[in-house]
Order: sequence, then structure tokens, then C-alpha cells
Amino acid sequence: MTEQRFVHAQWSSRLAFILAASGSAIGLGNIWKFPYLAGDNGGGAFVLVYLLSVVAIGIPIMIAETMLGRRGRQSPINTMRTLAEEAKTSPLWCYTGWLGVIAGFLILSYYSVIAGWAMAYFFKINSALFEHIDAASSTRLFENFKASPEFLGIWHTFFMVATMFIVSRGVSGGLERLSRFMMPALLLMLLVLDVYAMNSGGFGQGLAFLFNPDFSKLTGAGVLVALGQAFFSLGLGMGSIMVYGSYLPSDVSIARSSLFVIAADTLVALLAGVAIFPLVFANGLSPAMGPGLIFETLPIAFGQMPGGWLFGMMFFALIFFAAITSSVALIEPAVAFLSENKRMDREKACLYSGLACWVAGLGTVFSFNLWSDVKWLDKTVYEWVDMLTAEIMLPIGGVLVAVFAGWIMSKADSESELKLQNPRHYQAWLILVRYVAPLGVALVFLDAMGLL
Ligand code: PFF
Repeated sequence: MTEQRFVHAQWSSRLAFILAASGSAIGLGNIWKFPYLAGDNGGGAFVLVYLLSVVAIGIPIMIAETMLGRRGRQSPINTMRTLAEEAKTSPLWCYTGWLGVIAGFLILSYYSVIAGWAMAYFFKINSALFEHIDAASSTRLFENFKASPEFLGIWHTFFMVATMFIVSRGVSGGLERLSRFMMPALLLMLLVLDVYAMNSGGFGQGLAFLFNPDFSKLTGAGVLVALGQAFFSLGLGMGSIMVYGSYLPSDVSIARSSLFVIAADTLVALLAGVAIFPLVFANGLSPAMGPGLIFETLPIAFGQMPGGWLFGMMFFALIFFAAITSSVALIEPAVAFLSENKRMDREKACLYSGLACWVAGLGTVFSFNLWSDVKWLDKTVYEWVDMLTAEIMLPIGGVLVAVFAGWIMSKADSESELKLQNPRHYQAWLILVRYVAPLGVALVFLDAMGLL
């Protein structure tokens, strides 16, 4: 597949699309964010709401977003403009695409900082300091690391440069070929950690925490966090799946590919949770430890297991890989837009967007040290960026996609695009995308605002 500028190239096969879409979906969201959010929000009830959101809202919107992308075949902004014209409705729909470009940019700004932590730990875990490390020392090492704006800044820089280098070389190529090996390897590594967790002494407690819902521990705000996490983890609501859909050949089943990606994404998140919480309880740590959770708990396991430094290095390398296949998707809408509309070289588009994103990321770097006390309404810069994107922009972007696909686009068009063999499946999708997804998101918003 060759890179083309204004007429997009297409994926060589269904597999290539699935690999790219799972690459976008599976990332820090599954391994780093899901466990820490579940820990912060009381466990089981949060996980249940997350799973419900994935099924009732994530599935129909993933199908809708891919479908819009394939029909429009351009960057999200231009796709929405073209589809709005086709449906003879307002061109204002192109702002859905804009929302996605901005959300992706903002997410990448902090995503890169956290991916930098994984890069740093890849090198650190090999050190004797981690041998038989206890919980207190692991926490201290992480706290020291986090306190240094220089270290955080340097790793953030490395990660951003790596992302922009890959993005500048086009959508296809080495990355998705590598995914064929890396994704199964990541799954295997999580299974190893799960087996380790089984024997850690905290397995029962860990599982109970994750899967025994206690609704008294979940607030309205927590429900919104769970919904936002469903969007974030699936990579929905900001146009990156739309971009990938735009490269999808027209004979591939959108529904089947989407279901596969969603199943894989959810499985990875749950396996990560099952690996981490037993360790949390076995070592007397608190599940509500915030963004440092996996960086403080997993090194304890690596420090204890034979050859742990090697497993540790492999684990952090795999996280880095999972993160970079997501970060490429996060910035792709912005780069695709700049190169289509501003007629910019792909390289230049990458340089500008990467640089701007790097600068924005410094806000997150400093949130963990210099600016840790700079708060507005009790939230740091990082917490604001995270909340605005995951809890507001992605769900709104997702609802706009659902409303457009369900109500604005003609049924004849969506039916012919989805080509579902069983008409009942099409009906089910239509009900989910027209009613369940938009109302579900609206209810969660109202609940979080305390209006329910
Ligand atoms: N889904 C990615 C993760 O779970 O890490 C993050 C992400 C990628 C969010 C792409 C949004 C997106 F468009």
C-alpha cells in the first residue's frame, strides 16, 4: 500500500484494519488507566458500569464511526462535511470532526507523558534496586521519579519524537506488521502476570474488588468516569476510528471487525485489572493510588519473580508498543486534516502538530511536580485535560456520531454500507445508535451533575 495524499490508500485486508483499530484501542487506557480508575472509584460497580457502557454504547458507536469514515473516505472534518452535504443537512456537522481533532491532540499531550513513564521503567526495572523490592520502596522510587520535571520532560520528548516520526511516514508500514506479534505477546505477558497474581496471596480479594459490585462506593461522577473510560479505551468519539474506517475496503464487514476489536480491548483491560489488584492487596497497598498504580505495584511482582527484570523489561516494552500504536491514532485526525485542507506536506503537518502537542504536554509534566499544587476546583492541569477529553469531548463526539449515523444519514445508505446479513441485526444496531447510546450518555451527564 502506498501513501497517497488526497485520495486515501486502502487497507490491504480486513486483518490490516483490525490490527490498526485494535492498535488504537489497546493502549495505556487498558493497562494503566483502567486499573487506576477502577481503584479510585471503588472497583466492582465501576467495572460493571464500564462494561455496560462498552456493550450498549461502545458497540453501536464503534460501528457507526467506522461506517461514516468508510463512506466519507477523508479526514473526519471533511468526511462529516461531505456526508452532511450528501444528507442535505447543515455543514455545521463538520464541527464533530473538529472536536475530535482537538480531543486527540489534548489526549496525546498527556498520553505521551505517561508513555514516557513506561519507557523510563523499561530501563529502570533492570536495576538491582528493584530486586525483592517492598511496597514502601517501590512507592518511594516512583514518587522520586515523578517529582523530577527534567526526567518526565525528557521521556515525554522521546515519546513524542517517536510518535511523530512514525506518523510522518504514513498510515501503513511496519507498525501494523509488528502488531501481529506484539499484540499476542502483550496478551501472553498479561497472562503470565495473572498467573503470578493468582499465587500472590491477594487473588481472592483482588477479584472481589474488581467484580463484586458495591454501588455504595460509586458516585454519579464515578459513573461518568466509567462511561468516559469506555470511550477512551475503545478510542471512540474523536474521529480516529473514522480515519481508519476511511481506509477500509468496501467489502469488509464493519460490524464483525468492530466486535472483534471491542472484545480484544475489553479482555486486555480486564486481564490487566486481574493482574494488578491481587498485588495491591497482597502488599497492603491502597487501590485508590491514582495514576501511579501500575508503576508502584507491578515492579513488586517483577522484583520477586525469577528473571523478573527480563519480564519487567518485556512488559514495559510491550506497553510502549501498545501506547505508540494508540498515539499514532490520536494525532492522525489532526495530521490528516492539515495535509488535506492546508495542503501541507505530511512531514510538516507532523512537525507542527507534534511540537504543539509537546508544549501542551508540559502542563501534564508539571502537574506531577512543580505545579502539583496549582489547582482549579481541586484539579491539576493533567486532571482537567483528562476530564475535559475523556468525560466531555469523547462522549459528546460519540453522541454526535450516533445521531448522525442513526437519524441524519438515510437508512438506505447505512443499510447498504453495513451490509448486515440478518435484518434483525440492522434493526438492533439502529435502536442502539438512535436511542440507547444518546440517551445513555445524556442520563450519565445528568447523573454526574447531580440532576437525577
Ligand atoms: N484507546 C487508547 C487507549 O486505551 O490507550 C487511547 C485512545 C486512542 C483514545 C485513540 C482515543 C483515540 F482516538
